[in-house]
Amino acid sequence: MKISILGSGAVGQTLGKSLSDSGHEVVIGTRTPASLDEKRGYAASLKDWLASLTRRASVATFAESAAHGEVVINATSGRGSIEALNHAGAMNLDGKILIDVSNPLDFSKGMPPSLTICNTDSLGELIQRSVPGAKVVKTLNTVTAELMVAPHKVAQGNHGLFVCGNDESARKQVAVWLNEWFGWKPEQIVDLGDITAARGTEMYLPLWVRLYGQLGTSMFGISIVR
Ligand SMILES: NC(=O)c1ccc[n+]([C@@H]2O[C@H](COP(=O)([O-])OP(=O)(O)OC[C@H]3O[C@@H](n4cnc5c(N)ncnc54)[C@H](OP(=O)(O)O)[C@@H]3O)[C@@H](O)[C@H]2O)c1
Repeated sequence: MKISILGSGAVGQTLGKSLSDSGHEVVIGTRTPASLDEKRGYAASLKDWLASLTRRASVATFAESAAHGEVVINATSGRGSIEALNHAGAMNLDGKILIDVSNPLDFSKGMPPSLTICNTDSLGELIQRSVPGAKVVKTLNTVTAELMVAPHKVAQGNHGLFVCGNDESARKQVAVWLNEWFGWKPEQIVDLGDITAARGTEMYLPLWVRLYGQLGTSMFGISIVR
């Protein structure tokens, strides 16, 4: 499948490697596709990322990446997501499922980060309003990048993951892909309904950050018991 990943950081690289190594045609989008040697935050350079792959993938502009994808994944920083999607171009997103992994975190005042938007709105909703022609499905934003592609690494994979978005068939399709691509079992995936549910999954992040500090590891998930 042709997959566009908007974002060159830890999430873009982790999702991109997993999807490319399992046979998908991945194009990572970035503002600076020519700067392959540059380190991407705390993630590797895209040159090192390309060298780590078992199959060939590409790096391109946000617009070229989005044009390539049958499905598009937004893995850009919360503060840059709207700008990145503007670069990607509405016509390259029209009619496509847009999997949104971003969180509206603001690190400008140090740690812990605050949320740029919450409670009565969410980044997921803002993204859906910005690209009304795309079918935005928010998911994966409640786990660290390594767990996104390997849920079995904690609790034998018996922890939950949320999906939400306004298009029910898109939510169902994303749940199928999460299983086929990364091994999330159907019983782990909780369908929360329309995109306003992104308020809750994004507002979990302050608790996630606090748990990270207390547990000393990012390798944990949410277990839902009834
Ligand atoms: N790291 C995790 O484990 C994790 C887990 C769950 C959710 N998330 C969420 O996933 C997203 C990606 O996280 P990350 O850690 O991989 O990287 P990140 O540092 O949050 O984001 C890096 C990406 O954001 C783009 N970006 C930043 N500012 C921009 C702007 N003004 N305009 C356009 N693009 C801009 C960068 O573009 P360039 O390539 O051009 O520099 C880069 O591709 C974030 O929203 C994060 O909250 C992360």
